[in-house]
Amino acid sequence: MRDTRTFVIIGAGQAGGWIAKTLRAEKFTGRVVLIGEEPYLPYERPPLSKAALLGEVDVDGTYFWPPETYDALGIEVLPGTRATAIDRATKQVSLDNSDTRIYDRLAITTGTRPRLLPIDGAELTGIHYLRSIDDSLAIRADIRKGSKVLIVGGGWIGLEVAATLSKLGCRSVVVEAADRLCGRAVTPDISNWMVKLHQDNGVEVRLGTVVERFEGVSRLERALLSNGESIDCAFAVIGIGVIANTELAAEAGIAVENGIIVDDLCRTSDPDIFSAGDVTNHPNKQLNRRIRLESWENAQNQGIAAAKSMLDKGEAYGEIPWFWSDQHDANIQMIGLPEDWDETATRENPAEAAFLTMYLKGGIIVGAISVNNAREIRVAKRLMQAKKVLSVDYLANTDIKMQAMLKA
Ligand code: APR
Repeated sequence: MRDTRTFVIIGAGQAGGWIAKTLRAEKFTGRVVLIGEEPYLPYERPPLSKAALLGEVDVDGTYFWPPETYDALGIEVLPGTRATAIDRATKQVSLDNSDTRIYDRLAITTGTRPRLLPIDGAELTGIHYLRSIDDSLAIRADIRKGSKVLIVGGGWIGLEVAATLSKLGCRSVVVEAADRLCGRAVTPDISNWMVKLHQDNGVEVRLGTVVERFEGVSRLERALLSNGESIDCAFAVIGIGVIANTELAAEAGIAVENGIIVDDLCRTSDPDIFSAGDVTNHPNKQLNRRIRLESWENAQNQGIAAAKSMLDKGEAYGEIPWFWSDQHDANIQMIGLPEDWDETATRENPAEAAFLTMYLKGGIIVGAISVNNAREIRVAKRLMQAKKVLSVDYLANTDIKMQAMLKA
């Protein structure tokens, strides 16, 4: 018999898309409504700073699933539609086109938005942020071989864009406020390694520096930095972090604190409302604390977990965080959120410009970072999961295959 319930999902990004898809995979026969503010179907964000910016992938090529999949699965997608309010008493979502949707169960997967840089000249054309397909297309339209580009923020976004621009023949200057690159995510040794990687590829890096003012007549022409430098640039890309889109949830009275608070079954403080992806503040058993993760893998897997939970088939969600980034010829991967360690073990393969550094606390891996070594970091993740106690000498010994360490 067909389920008479309606499940509504607010936010048609990766997490929202995976909830819709999983509800059907789990044989939910009721209505599934996916509301998305952007005029696109759920799409992959990693290409936006890489292949899409290079022009190797078009909009359709970023879609998780083609339009036919939604038709075949009976998922009602409302693109270009913004949810404006949630009335929990009447279980109703208001939309910006004055329409409403009644829900039996609701998922909020509203993600994050870029943090804006509030300085003089910020309104000039040629100043970009990068979060959406439209942002990526707008940057792409500004790219001219040989031009100089200012990158504000030396985090994942800024560094990936700088690397892509190098491939396209632009010269980038990365201005980073902190004293090291990607400080929120990677360890100091990797930050230093990143400076060299970028400099070796023609990217200039200014640490401990901020932009004080943008100047230009109507379009950006130059930026004045806190070190007194004035940089002429064709355009700028700002990547100084993101803010969780929690307003809709908070206004509806759902508990929010650095993200929408959910338990390990993706349940918010309202029993009929769930949440997944970048916007959630969720418990992580592996790390023993709550986290808000900006991660591709989390958006997918927590989305899948939330869908099962909406169907009362939930299992506790809590995976070891995993991130990756491609910059120049380096594939950088990271597991865990290494913050506190007492030893490190590094396996080097200079011939392939590859290495893996594992961070240990009491002989147990608490995180690892690899460069061009995807194979071994996968094994390190399993060792971390198993909480194996291993010595630095043993882990660093490249005569021993890491796979064998799983059985040790
Ligand atoms: N001037 C220069 N740098 C700044 C400023 C500023 N005014 N404010 C912050 N920064 C720096 C931070 O010190 C940090 O190194 O900007 C960097 C932002 O890096 P991230 O926090 O990694 O954020 P971002 O690069 O914007 O990426 C946002 O998108 O792809 C995802 O997973 C990725 O979570 C990340 C998100």
